Amino acid sequence: MKTKILVTGGTGYIGSHTVVELQNAGYEVIIIDNLSNSTIEVLDGIEKITNKRPIFIQMDLNDKVGLQQVFSSHADIKGIIHFAASKAVGESVYKPLLYYRNNIVTLLNLLDLMPEAGVEGIVFSSSCTVYGQPDILPVTEDAPIKPALSPYGNSKQINEEIIRDTIYAGLPFKSIILRYFNPIGAHPSAEIGELPNGVPQNLVPFITQTAMGIRQELSVFGDDYNTPDGSCIRDYIHVVDLAKAHVTAIDRLLTNKSEERLEIFNLGTGIGVSVLELLSTFEKETGVKVPYKIVERREGDIEQVWADPKHANEVLGWTAKESVGSTLLSAWNWQKRLRERGIQ
Ligand code: WQD
Repeated sequence: MKTKILVTGGTGYIGSHTVVELQNAGYEVIIIDNLSNSTIEVLDGIEKITNKRPIFIQMDLNDKVGLQQVFSSHADIKGIIHFAASKAVGESVYKPLLYYRNNIVTLLNLLDLMPEAGVEGIVFSSSCTVYGQPDILPVTEDAPIKPALSPYGNSKQINEEIIRDTIYAGLPFKSIILRYFNPIGAHPSAEIGELPNGVPQNLVPFITQTAMGIRQELSVFGDDYNTPDGSCIRDYIHVVDLAKAHVTAIDRLLTNKSEERLEIFNLGTGIGVSVLELLSTFEKETGVKVPYKIVERREGDIEQVWADPKHANEVLGWTAKESVGSTLLSAWNWQKRLRERGIQ
């Protein structure tokens, strides 16, 4: 019988790509999502790619009674991958309670119910935001955690602490925390991808929408940073590479490959790319010009951060494979598909 995995936030951007990879690897998937930042049509995309429609339950994870019912009717859930969370950094500043409720109470509900449900492990979506501006680059997992700059960032730090305290208290499950750098791109089939609500806050959807003519021009937030070309540097990772790391992590938890009850891994390529470099790579790969202007720095931006992925490479046995060029091309193909469908 196939091992059953609960994927919370499974119709979201990273969640949907992970569901595809889990199904391709032979897992049976149950998605719980409240569709607050995704649409039901994502299930069609997943089905087209994998020939299998995952079980879908529309529910808010704050509904603990509902969650308990899911565990009773699917008594064979062995692992959880927990993506569901609110993730707009700016919004979190003026709606902190929404962020703490959605990002913390939901985790508490899952952890509370796992022992009785017999769930053996949980993979948690964390972020490189926990490092703030690291003193040493590339950043390793034992770099100090810096004070968070937003309720969103703080919620990820608190989530990590809650998981650590729960594991050390001896609750009968294991966990892997994955700290993502900047996920971009879309599935090569262009059946699923990122679908931002309103004006995109993240760089790559803004670039593809500008290239499509939906936005007039890209604003590059600052060219006076202490970096070679003055723009900020990030570690951009293909979302499919990221999704595959989750399959490796859940395999590791469920087959007891490690004695450790809690492990933390950076998921990045190890390559730092500036905003202006990313833009010129996009233009080179797609042949489409993107109008842009340099504007003021964005408040709260980190100057430069990229991963040391050695721990994930050597211990998890996972490495990011896609180049930033092919990743940007996949994002552009997805944007073109959205246009064909009349969505954007
Ligand atoms: C990347 C670079 C901008 C938009 C955020 C969250 C993080 C994570 C991923 C989320 C920066 C520049 C951007 C634009 C620009 N988690 N930029 N013009 O800020 O690294 O990380 O998203 O879910 O927690 O903080 O990503 O894509 O917003 O920005 O110049 O219109 O692009 O200044 O240097 P960021 P991003």
